[in-house]
Amino acid sequence: MTGRRDGAREAYEAVLELNPNDAEVRHLLTSLRDEAAPTRVPTECIQQLYRRFSNFYEDNMLEQLGYEGPVHLAELINSELQDRGGLRAVDLGCGTGLAGRTIADRCEELTGVDLSPEMLTQSEKLQIYTSLHEAEVSGWLEQCGHEFDLIVALDTLIYFGDLTQVLQPAASHLAHDGRIAISVERSATPPFVLTDNGRYQHHEDHIAEAAAESGLRVIAQKQAFLRMEYGEEVTAIFTILAHADDS
Ligand SMILES: C[S@@+](CC[C@H](N)C(=O)[O-])C[C@H]1O[C@@H](n2cnc3c(N)ncnc32)[C@H](O)[C@@H]1O
Repeated sequence: MTGRRDGAREAYEAVLELNPNDAEVRHLLTSLRDEAAPTRVPTECIQQLYRRFSNFYEDNMLEQLGYEGPVHLAELINSELQDRGGLRAVDLGCGTGLAGRTIADRCEELTGVDLSPEMLTQSEKLQIYTSLHEAEVSGWLEQCGHEFDLIVALDTLIYFGDLTQVLQPAASHLAHDGRIAISVERSATPPFVLTDNGRYQHHEDHIAEAAAESGLRVIAQKQAFLRMEYGEEVTAIFTILAHADDS
């Protein structure tokens, strides 16, 4: 927060010595030691983080950090899908259901997938999901036997480096005229970076490149305020993707 990176690294190293199983601290040290970034944030780290965060996630994100992700992604989806309804949709990294709530009315089936059982307990209370799965999204997509008209990943791909990890399996389960709606935190440096807060930021060129590699293309995109972080505004890139051959 204060930019004292070396001090932070030393402090986290001391914490890790006391708690060698702390997955969040181990992951933060990957960035602070400038070690090679993992392909995605490790499962144990996500589960440890959201075990605690699930109790105050919405209050913290919406009330304290002014989270506008759901509003902006919904605007893009609504202008693209107009009055299309009866959709088979999946919400990847559904969390407490902030994205699911914005699309539920146009869905015949709404599936939620998340690594955190505590976050899934929160989303279950909404009673908008047809089914909820405790699973890692890229692995789940690879083995899932369904086709979807709408695939949403709001504030979830911030935990992935190369976006093809999710876009490739997502594309293979996307209906011919289906749409994928995603958000990432914006990076000025291509293709993507693991930041000192342990999340990835992506450059807009990487979104287009990963889409093309996955047989997809960008059909709508906007950059907008996502939320505050340590008093600074975070900007996100919201994108709608379709099959490359869907005209
Ligand atoms: C920042 S929250 C976003 C939740 C919700 N989409 C929203 O916008 O409020 C990220 C969610 O993604 C989940 N997540 C992160 N990486 C994941 C992965 N690889 N597989 C499944 N869920 C993951 C976390 O457990 C968490 O619930």
